[in-house]
Amino acid sequence: MSETQISIEGLKRVFPASEDDGDFTVFEDVWFKVNKGEFVCLIGHSGCGKTTLLNILAGLDKASAGSVIVDGEEVDGPSLNRAVVFQSHALMPWMTAMNNIAFAVTSKWPNLSREKLRAHCQKYIDLVRLTGSESKKPSQLSGGMKQRVGIARAMAIEPKIMLLDEPFSALDALTRGSLQDELLSICRETVQTVFMITHDIDEALLLADRIVLMTNGPGARVLEIVENTMPRDRTRHDMHKHAHYYPLRNHLIDFLVERSAKFQERISAPDYDPRKPKVVRPGVVAPRTLDADADEVATAATSQARA
Ligand SMILES: Nc1ncnc2c1ncn2[C@@H]1O[C@H](COP(=O)(O)OP(=O)(O)OP(=O)(O)O)[C@@H](O)[C@H]1O
Ligand SMILES: [Mg+2]
Repeated sequence: MSETQISIEGLKRVFPASEDDGDFTVFEDVWFKVNKGEFVCLIGHSGCGKTTLLNILAGLDKASAGSVIVDGEEVDGPSLNRAVVFQSHALMPWMTAMNNIAFAVTSKWPNLSREKLRAHCQKYIDLVRLTGSESKKPSQLSGGMKQRVGIARAMAIEPKIMLLDEPFSALDALTRGSLQDELLSICRETVQTVFMITHDIDEALLLADRIVLMTNGPGARVLEIVENTMPRDRTRHDMHKHAHYYPLRNHLIDFLVERSAKFQERISAPDYDPRKPKVVRPGVVAPRTLDADADEVATAATSQARA
């Protein structure tokens, strides 16, 4: 039985009225769990509330209703056990790349010797291929390089949970590929729990064990959760050969193109339970049983037909 590490329970975020508008409910009744060591991606259209949700998980923003429980305790502020890579890099502009990372590492391990601190930071600078740029300040780095400092900083504090907001979107294909591989190998070597927002379907299929689909806002909800049915040792070079790749990919594209906007019908259906979003396994043929589990084992075809 997998151990729950993050439990999102009835989360809602309302932004107060502005001068020319009423209150704005970004999302509501959002429920899902992330297990220890699991890699979960969140997909949804721009503006549906993904960053807002991640900020609440990080303890940087407060929910209007509901709660986030991490390791059995309610989140009420940021923690060094949860590292965040922001959509925009969020580095300290007056510090060099090295010092941005060292600052975070020292917050976590205040008693490291200078040599150990430097060696530890250098390991992650090398990992994100920034060797030689250690003493540059953010204004002297490109957008992709700044993003890589942010990724190195998150990895360097060896957090229990990584919260990543489109971390690779500003990177060239080569760097993106090698960082995805690094992240995967870190996750496979250590018990790393990752919650990541992405717009890139192939990235989600490569990295994620499960993919949470969020409808368009306002009042966005979790429509369903897609289980990645490809083997966990998949690579970017071979995953397209797997029989489940195209059913999975088509399911996600269909969600983004069509179903994310037509969710009202789905969430008003009697079998929609926001506390238990439907789990779909595209590519897997549903077993011919009538037991309770059968409801959860929906094929892409059946869930598309219902939507
Ligand atoms: N501080 C705020 N005050 C008022 N409205 C806000 C605030 N922050 C975000 N919003 C609104 O909440 C909605 C969700 O924003 P959010 O940044 O979470 O979207 P997103 O899903 O991350 O989008 P993207 O994919 O473009 O990054 C948007 O309509 C945005 O305008
Ligand atoms: Mg965002």
